[in-house]
Amino acid sequence: GSNTLWGGRFSEATDEFVQRFTASVSFDQRMANQDITGSVAHARMLEKAGILSADECKSIIDCLEAIRIDIAEGRMEWSVALEDVHMNIEAELTKRIGPTGKKLHTGRSRNDQVATDIRLYVRDAIDHLTGELTRLQYALVELAEREADTIMPGFTHLQTAQPVTFGHHMLAWYEMLDRDHSRLLDCRKRMNVSPLGSAALAGTTYPIDRHFTAEQLGFDGPSRNSLDSVSDRDFAIELSACGSLIMTHLSRFSEELVLWTSAQFDFIDLPDRFCTGSSIMPQKKNPDVPELIRGKTGRVHGHLISLLTLMKSQPLAYNKDNQEDKEPIFDLLDTLSDCLKAYADMMPAITTRKENMLTAARKGYATATDLADYLVKKGMPFRDAHEVVGKSVAYGIEQKKDLGELSLSELQQFSDSISEDVFDVLTLEGSVAARNHIGGTAPEQVRAAAANCRILLQQR
Ligand code: ARG
Repeated sequence: GSNTLWGGRFSEATDEFVQRFTASVSFDQRMANQDITGSVAHARMLEKAGILSADECKSIIDCLEAIRIDIAEGRMEWSVALEDVHMNIEAELTKRIGPTGKKLHTGRSRNDQVATDIRLYVRDAIDHLTGELTRLQYALVELAEREADTIMPGFTHLQTAQPVTFGHHMLAWYEMLDRDHSRLLDCRKRMNVSPLGSAALAGTTYPIDRHFTAEQLGFDGPSRNSLDSVSDRDFAIELSACGSLIMTHLSRFSEELVLWTSAQFDFIDLPDRFCTGSSIMPQKKNPDVPELIRGKTGRVHGHLISLLTLMKSQPLAYNKDNQEDKEPIFDLLDTLSDCLKAYADMMPAITTRKENMLTAARKGYATATDLADYLVKKGMPFRDAHEVVGKSVAYGIEQKKDLGELSLSELQQFSDSISEDVFDVLTLEGSVAARNHIGGTAPEQVRAAAANCRILLQQR
């Protein structure tokens, strides 16, 4: 027979393939909780407006709450013939309480209903993600405090550049995540308006109270334009843009962890429980978790492009295209949640191999800039100092010695401005300690920065 929810106009049943092709219940049932929450608020509003009697409202809400529990406990039978989560729940309601159930959809459309559900869903997810980001940021602050004095080579072009402290490096990651956190909050702020009452596209003729439903659902207020709010998916695009940046950051960290755990660097050790072995090579301990996170960046970036492309040609107002927003949104939220969890759990457990980092920093002429700065402080123009140090490095390479290992007389071949005190700046410790200003790598600064981060995190 024809569909019971819109069968009136139809003279034949939906083609079986079309039914399956157009259905979304297999994936949008994930929004069942939000759908019920939205319906409860709508029912209360209908009662307040005198559209439902108190008894009708109560029986609708009680039944919706019973359905909520049945769904949570896996007792709901979802039907593809009923297309999506909204019509499945509405049909179940009517099946259980009879004709009163049919009144729930008064003054509402699936278009404002789905726009509401997905906003509620994304809002919950953002709250979870910001929590995970905070957990990871705390882990990084703790590491920064623990490793404020740990010296490692800092790189540009992946070539040893200048010595930095490991704590300083951790706080660089912290800063990226901090911007990610504020971007998510910003996205949340813009999406937190209620579409309910927009109905299909033009609003509704009933004396509805949009402020009431908005408030019930924790929205900042009703949306300002019905056409816009049933068709807008900007918030999902913003979310995936925020998510893409988070993944880009996690991917960069992952790349570093993969490098640092390799035998060639051997800067850190990941705990065994975050690694896996090889089925053939018994010696292997692979950094699968960071590798997989680096790899999963691709799907999240892909979802951003999917959502942008999905929207780009849609005329106002709602179009069925929008049903395609769910799977990218769900997948990107799952991926972000898993990857942030992995990082927040893993980072507190990493250990540093201080000797190896120190040796690597010593090998790379990392204090060359310090020698140049030393000469400038003795009165030499920087460009001349650059030249002198360049020659000293070339000599060091020839002799297989770092700058700090050259004797005073060897160094003095290149400039007579060099005296005994040069060795204070040629040590790695002296080099990092000298960068003692806001944002610098000196241990003192790292400790101050970490303390500041802690205060900011506690204020969240
Ligand atoms: N399943 C639909 C979606 O995800 C719900 C809204 C359908 N509305 C409509 N008029 N076909 O967008």
